[in-house]
Amino acid sequence: MGLVRLFLGSVLGVLGLLVNAVVLCNGGTTSAFVRQVEKTVDMPLESDVFHVPPGHNAPQQVHITQGDHEGKGLIVSWVTMDDPGSSTVLYWSENSKHKNKAKGTVVTYKFYNYTSGYIHHCTIKNLEFDTKYYYEVGIEHTTRTFWFTTPPEVGPDVPYTFGLIGDLGQSYDSNMTLTHYALNPTKGKTMLFMGDLSYADNYPNHDNVRWDTWGRFTERSAAYQPWIWTAGNHEIDFAPEIGETKPFKPYTHRYRVPYKASNSTAPFWYSIKRASAYIIVLSSYSAYGKYTPQYKWLEAELPKVSRSETPWLIVLMHAPWYNSYNYHYMEGETMRVMYEPWFVKYKVDVVFAGHVHAYERSGSPTISATNHRLIILDDLDLLFMVLTSVIWIWIIFFLFSKSDLDRRWILIVAVATTSIVAVAVVANICDHKSERVSNIAYNIVNGICSPVRDPSAPVYITIGDGGNLEGLATNMTEPQPTYSAFREASFGHAIFDIKNRTHAYYSWHRNQDGYAVEADSLWFFNRFWHPVDDSTSTQ
Ligand SMILES: *[C@@H]1O[C@H](CO)[C@@H](O)[C@H](O)[C@H]1NC(C)=O
Ligand SMILES: *[C@@H]1O[C@H](CO)[C@@H](O)[C@H](O)[C@H]1NC(C)=O
Ligand SMILES: *[C@@H]1O[C@H](CO)[C@@H](O)[C@H](O)[C@H]1NC(C)=O
Ligand SMILES: *[C@@H]1O[C@H](CO)[C@@H](O)[C@H](O)[C@H]1NC(C)=O
Ligand SMILES: *[C@@H]1O[C@H](CO)[C@@H](O)[C@H](O)[C@H]1NC(C)=O
Ligand SMILES: [Fe+2]
Repeated sequence: MGLVRLFLGSVLGVLGLLVNAVVLCNGGTTSAFVRQVEKTVDMPLESDVFHVPPGHNAPQQVHITQGDHEGKGLIVSWVTMDDPGSSTVLYWSENSKHKNKAKGTVVTYKFYNYTSGYIHHCTIKNLEFDTKYYYEVGIEHTTRTFWFTTPPEVGPDVPYTFGLIGDLGQSYDSNMTLTHYALNPTKGKTMLFMGDLSYADNYPNHDNVRWDTWGRFTERSAAYQPWIWTAGNHEIDFAPEIGETKPFKPYTHRYRVPYKASNSTAPFWYSIKRASAYIIVLSSYSAYGKYTPQYKWLEAELPKVSRSETPWLIVLMHAPWYNSYNYHYMEGETMRVMYEPWFVKYKVDVVFAGHVHAYERSGSPTISATNHRLIILDDLDLLFMVLTSVIWIWIIFFLFSKSDLDRRWILIVAVATTSIVAVAVVANICDHKSERVSNIAYNIVNGICSPVRDPSAPVYITIGDGGNLEGLATNMTEPQPTYSAFREASFGHAIFDIKNRTHAYYSWHRNQDGYAVEADSLWFFNRFWHPVDDSTSTQ
């Protein structure tokens, strides 16, 4: 019977479509953007960005970071090469002529046959919120003046804009990333830096001159807005072959963080409040297992976060937990096992990591095999069930009806209804919202080891694409896993723009595009105040 075959054929066709959709929508999007394939090259020592400021013993490598827990303090750091000079900072607010003084300290260090300049650190305290200040470093004929703006007082609805860069290095691409960040029409006010600063350790004997050049290169941003530091693997500088056995020596001498203000016992993990954000910095390269100082600190720290005061809970770390590139694959896994249940429990909004020299954002389409339901239909559940029942009723009529005319009509309606269901299901499966994922159910014996949809989980963003000399990570795992919503191997930076307690707008900007172009973007809905699915407007 022709009609029966036609009918069975169309049912099979529709089933095929469904299976297809499941396969197609298994992971997220791997960007089809094709970039120039050029080797990443470090800028030579004589480059303009490395120029030493004129004058005897002129302060160089000036950089600032937050200096207390709530944003009224600031640490100013700089280097003088010829002699110690002065560690005092003069500072005054925009609308005052009175110059205040803050006294700092000076340190030096040796690394193999390198001797550092005089590294000054000066903490300024009790600044006014939301105020522009000028500050002056150096003495006599070689002083230099910069400025910064303090954040607004901590509060739940204070808008604030963060910039995001990781793994910067000092190549021509690094310079492009910094330029694009500066010229982005959305102005970042504070930089969240995910670790791997200078890459000096890629040079013979970890040539620490490259720490100095990096300091001069980044001054054009870091002297004017705080950079919040995270330690990466290139900060370890562990080189027993040349007698350097104390990890993090250059990094800790050059870059200070306000770790004591958050009761941390080491500068590698700490927290700050800034505007409406609570930022926790973790160390992928310090012990994080149970009973370790970092573990105990984080365990005590998370319950202290008041989302009524700081709605946005942001975590920075170097090695990503959710990464689908063939570089550093699973390096973040042991830390994930230790801390992910806490991140879900305390509803962390977003985790930023670096390390992998590419871009990736977690999240999955609305399908998850491990939820023990093949297709999650959400709000379309009812429609789906009604239409399925209609189809089956028509099939039964079809089998028992006598006239061919009846059968033809029954067939038309059956095929039409089935198609509607199919379209609805396909649309639903492929609805790429940023479904947050977690992977905390596994206990060795239960076999539940795949990430599942979890509205309390953070979004994980890898932004190790600052542009260092090691080049891009282009080799990805295939097929794209369900926990990966979007990935692309391009250099760039991102902006996290907090609007109020419920909304923040996130965008990623690749260096090949115009300054205003968003290559990936997402409305973040706060996990505490507005825990609905985030909406994405990818590409
Ligand atoms: C350090 O030693 C290396 C070789 O081991 C040499 O090339 C370099 O010039 C030395 N640097 C200084 C500052 O002495
Ligand atoms: C780095 O970028 C700045 C700003 O765009 C530019 O003025 C400078 O010439 C660049 N330097 C190098 C070495 O590319
Ligand atoms: C640090 O510990 C002290 C003493 O226990 C406490 O008063 C203070 O509130 C703590 N600070 C933070 C930021 O947790
Ligand atoms: C990509 O990585 C995989 C796994 O490490 C490796 O087997 C493969 O050869 C790599 N492909 C390329 C083109 O490098
Ligand atoms: C928060 O910001 C979003 C985006 O700008 C806006 O749509 C929303 O109305 C704001 N909420 C409140 C309570 O102002
Ligand atoms: Fe790294």
